[in-house]
Order: sequence, then C-alpha cells, then structure tokens
Amino acid sequence: MSNQTDHWQKWIPILEKEYAMEMEKAPRPCSEHGSDHVFRVLRRCVTLGEKLSADLEILVAAAYLHDLGMHYAPARVHGCLSAEKAQPVLERIGFPGEKRDPVLLAIRTHDISASSEDRKTLEAKIFFDADKVDAFGVIGVLRYIRVVYGKLPIDFIIEDIESRWEGLSFSETRETALEEYQYSKNYFVQLKKELEMDSYGLELGFVSILKGK
Ligand SMILES: [Fe+2]
Ligand SMILES: [Fe+2]
Repeated sequence: MSNQTDHWQKWIPILEKEYAMEMEKAPRPCSEHGSDHVFRVLRRCVTLGEKLSADLEILVAAAYLHDLGMHYAPARVHGCLSAEKAQPVLERIGFPGEKRDPVLLAIRTHDISASSEDRKTLEAKIFFDADKVDAFGVIGVLRYIRVVYGKLPIDFIIEDIESRWEGLSFSETRETALEEYQYSKNYFVQLKKELEMDSYGLELGFVSILKGK
C-alpha cells in the first residue's frame, strides 16, 4: 500500500505547479473553486478511494484540474470546458497515457449536465461524490452564501442540497458526510423560517404604524 501511496503522491507537487500556472492565465479566477476547494476534494477522494480500492493517481489529477473551466466561464455546467483545459496539462506533465481518458471522464462528468450512467468508472463516481459533498457543512454553508444567497431563493439552496445528497453514489460517502449534510440543510431551513418570521413581524409593524398605534 505504501508504494501505491508514494506513487500517486508524486503528482501532487507537479499538479500544484501546473494548477498555479493555469490560475495565473485564467481570466476570471473564482475563489469558491480555488485551491482550498481542490484540497478538500482531494482529501475526500483519497479517503473514499482507499476505502473502495480506486486508482488514486486518476483521482489526484482530476482533483487538481476539474474546475479549470470555472475560472474561464463560471457556470454550473463547466465539466467539458475543464476537460478541454486539463488535456494539454496531462500531456505536458507526461501523465500515464492510459489514465488520461479516465481523468478526463471524471472531470467531464462531475457537473450537473452528466447523469450517473455517464460516470462509468469507479473513479468518476468517487470523484463526483467527493466534489458534491463540499457543499455540505460549515464550509458548504459559506460557499452557498457567497455564490447563491441573495441571487436565488433559499428554497433553491435547500433543494440543491437535497439533490446533491440523493445523487451520491456510495453509502460510504453518505456515512462520512451525514452530519455535514444535516448541518447545511438545517441551517438553510432555519434561515428561511427566521427570515419569514422577520418579514411577518415587519408587516405587523407597518400595520400598527398605519393604524396610528
Ligand atoms: Fe466543478
Ligand atoms: Fe469542484
């Protein structure tokens, strides 16, 4: 196991350098999909990948390169653009030829435009789960607030959290992410409730003012 671990780990400094170079070129760097997101996704890929005996070399490359497209054209559908940007990087660093397509598949199919049937490999499924659960927990709440809150209704956020949870491929992911999922969902359900109470209170206040009370 330690040899396999060493083997995939050798790509970290190489991909980190490539990632930094790509970010320097990117016209619209998106902080919510920056290096901290990459590291969290990578950490989950390793935990889940080791449990399910996946190819960690494929997962580490996918983790570093999966959101490159997001820094060019921020959109929920960005997997294909990210794969386009990732392909020359894999060639440049001499990534094993037989593993390039599996990396690109995981990248292409990690956004909402792909279905679970499109994620044909173990690594693509693991990668999808590792990326999706970054919307859960304290960090997930912060990401929703930065990206979505105020632009779309809170119901959209609650539904998005639920659909991410339902779309996960592995019970192992659900076991490790259950608390964080509940935290995010409860936070936005409670936020909605409190904001509704506030607006009801404001209405009552206005009624009192109109009645001269
Ligand atoms: Fe993404
Ligand atoms: Fe991502």
